[in-house]
This record gives sequence, structure tokens and C-alpha cells, in this order.
Amino acid sequence: MAAPVILDCDPGIDDAVAILLALASPELDLLAVTTVAGNVPLASTTANALRVLDLAGRPDLPVGRGAERSLVHLPADDSKETHGESGLDGSGLPEPSRGPGPEHAVDLIARLALDRPGEVTLCAVGPLTNVALLAALRPEAFQALRRIVVMGGAATGGNMSPYAEFNVWFDPEAAARVVASAHDPVLVGLDVTRQARLSAADIDRLAELPVLGGPLAGMLRFYMRKHVDWYGEEVVFQHDALAVAHLVDPSVLELAHCHVEVDTSFGPARGATLVDRLGVFGGHANAHWAVDLDAERFRGLLFERLAALAASR
Ligand code: RIB
Ligand code: CA
Repeated sequence: MAAPVILDCDPGIDDAVAILLALASPELDLLAVTTVAGNVPLASTTANALRVLDLAGRPDLPVGRGAERSLVHLPADDSKETHGESGLDGSGLPEPSRGPGPEHAVDLIARLALDRPGEVTLCAVGPLTNVALLAALRPEAFQALRRIVVMGGAATGGNMSPYAEFNVWFDPEAAARVVASAHDPVLVGLDVTRQARLSAADIDRLAELPVLGGPLAGMLRFYMRKHVDWYGEEVVFQHDALAVAHLVDPSVLELAHCHVEVDTSFGPARGATLVDRLGVFGGHANAHWAVDLDAERFRGLLFERLAALAASR
């Protein structure tokens, strides 16, 4: 039976790929997409989620608009630099055919979680503001979630500072709340997502797909230009799709149960995730940290599923 999943996201080019992968995978029953401010402002992340669902032929899928800013302190920046002004630059996608539903993201997640206690996985691939609000406002629904899988954090070098990964950096207080929530989240950080990569030849291959090929290749080529600028390599990291791939095939990732903390200070490491894999500091294990991945299994799954979705359009 397909696993019920809610995807909380901030599209964002790699979020768009994650949405398509979730829809293309029969192992998952995507119940809803919820949006949060992050890569670009909330209005844009929400419109982008709706655009991608139109592209995938799912204008029926519920979309809940969530937090328009971080919980406590405003971040110094967003990710327009990486994803473009629209958040999906290069995709060429038209305006969405509809608006978001009437329920706030937190209420939509809570309703779906309580409809099926212990069954629904929440996969969060943007800042964790909505997830922290759910824990605070609807603790009974938060606890009713089967599992929380997060794309976020970095133990071996960040992307918004030498130490902090964007989703955690954007709202460290929210991330700290989720990690301290006793829900034992799975945390898929840059340590593995930087190895979940597509090449220029891969993008050329995706460009051939019916219906999806043009928008996918367009936005991935835009995204690649930023990777070349930043990393000097003709690759694109598929941060968010890797978290979704783990839901489809858990063997894509190797996890270590350990103690993780988030730096919410205002020092140079604000937003860093402190991962104690040796259990040295005595903190109890509170998260499952992704320590390795099967990159070829991920790539194979991504290509196979995107091709299947394209063929179904
Ligand atoms: O650091 C990578 C994460 O930040 C991804 O989720 C990307 O979409 C951005 O939100
Ligand atoms: Ca994201």
C-alpha cells in the first residue's frame, strides 16, 4: 500500500524535482504540498508549487500556504541568487491555473495527520518554520505523524556560511525546535546531498522527456550556472529529491542515530548543525543523520521515475 506523504517545500528548482519524484513514485501517496518562505518569498514558493503540479497534471492536489517568514529572527538573505527571481528561473512555466487552498499549511498537515494517526510521513525540504509551528500549535497532530524526514543541515561544511546549510540557516530556531521535538527526525544534510548530482549530459537526457523535458532542462540549466559559479563544476545538486528518494527506497541512504543540535546563537556558526556521531557529549540520540548514500541507486530511481511520469502526461 502506498505510503501517505505530505511534502513541505520552498520551490525552488530542486524542490520542483522533488515534487515530481514524489508524484512519479507509486510507493508514495502524496496527500498534499505545503509551502513556506525560503528560497524565495512565500507568494513565489506557493505559485511555484502550483505551477509544478500543473506541469505534472495534478491541479487537484491540495496545496496549503504556510509561514511567510522565519519564527523569530529574519534571515539576512534568501536564495534568489541560486533559483532566480521567480524561484524557478529557466522553467518557462506559465502562471498557475489556481490558487492555494483555504487551509493554512499547519492546519492542512494537522488535519491529514489526525485523519490517519501514525501513518503519514512529513517530508520537509525547505526551512522548518511550518513544522515548528505544527509542533507548537498542534502537538497532538505533530505526534500523530509517522515520521519526519528533513532535507537540512550539514556536518562537513555549509552553503550559506562555512558551517550552516540554507534550510536550517534560514530559520535556526524552527530547526532547533524540530530537532528537540523527540520525534527522532531523519536529517538529510549537504554531506550526502552534494553527492546526489546531475551532470550536463544528464540534463540533456532529461530534456528529451515529453512534456516535462523542456521545463526540467530549462530550470536545471539555470541552476547549473549557479553551481559552476559557486563550485566550479558542471553539476547540479539534487538536495530535496534525495530526501524524497529515501521515502521511496530507504536503502538510498545510510543513517546514524545520534545527537544533533542547532546553533541558534548570533555567532559565526549560527544555523550550524552540531552532529555528535561519537556520542562524546553525552546528549541522547535525537535524530537519524544521513551519513552516506548510494548515488547510483538515487540517479537510477530519479531517471526511471521522471521518465514514467513524463510518459503518463
Ligand atoms: O541547502 C539546500 C536547500 O536549500 C534545498 O532545500 C534548497 O531548495 C534550498 O531550500
Ligand atoms: Ca528546498
